[in-house]
Amino acid sequence: MKRMEEDVERILHSEQELKERVRELGKQITEDYKDDEPIVLICILRGSVMFFADLARNMDLRANLEFMTVSSYGNNASTSGLVEIKKDLDCNIEGRNVIIAEDIIDSGYTLSELKKILMTRNPKSLKIVCLLDKPEGRREGVDIKPDYCGFTIENEFVVGYGLDYAQMYRNLPYVGVLKRSVYEK
Ligand code: IMP
Ligand code: MG
Repeated sequence: MKRMEEDVERILHSEQELKERVRELGKQITEDYKDDEPIVLICILRGSVMFFADLARNMDLRANLEFMTVSSYGNNASTSGLVEIKKDLDCNIEGRNVIIAEDIIDSGYTLSELKKILMTRNPKSLKIVCLLDKPEGRREGVDIKPDYCGFTIENEFVVGYGLDYAQMYRNLPYVGVLKRSVYEK
């Protein structure tokens, strides 16, 4: 079997770099919410799973850890702006401080739609933390900005630390740029 590493063009954020940045994000969120009520931290499956698990352990806050699966669908790779909830939350977020943990914001459709849906449930507050932001990918008319962001990246396709290509590479310990030959073959 070919090793995953062979499909990676270059490492964008190393394991150590991710660890340090996630620790900083956790500290910042802890500081911002420490005098407030407990939070609901939502993991958007499956891409956020590594980030979520590491972030949660770097926040010294009382928190519910909750999970959602959403899929944006449309014509192939490009997102249409429609978001379907495949697995909803198991808890009521009314009156709660909610933070959505997402792996990456590209077009921004997924999170802007999800935010609208969750806002109808009347949380006390709703914020977004993302590991990566690709502002160049943002579609016109989509106004979404993360409240907390690990790294801003160029418009490149990245994998690892939860992020996939065709459901693979999520278990790489770093974030890397995939070789073009992998998706062009
Ligand atoms: P958006 O609706 O375009 O912002 O979609 C964000 C979603 O697209 C993320 O949650 C990822 O699942 C996926 N995505 C966007 N860019 C990448 C990438 O570079 N690598 C892997 N997945 C990506
Ligand atoms: Mg995703």
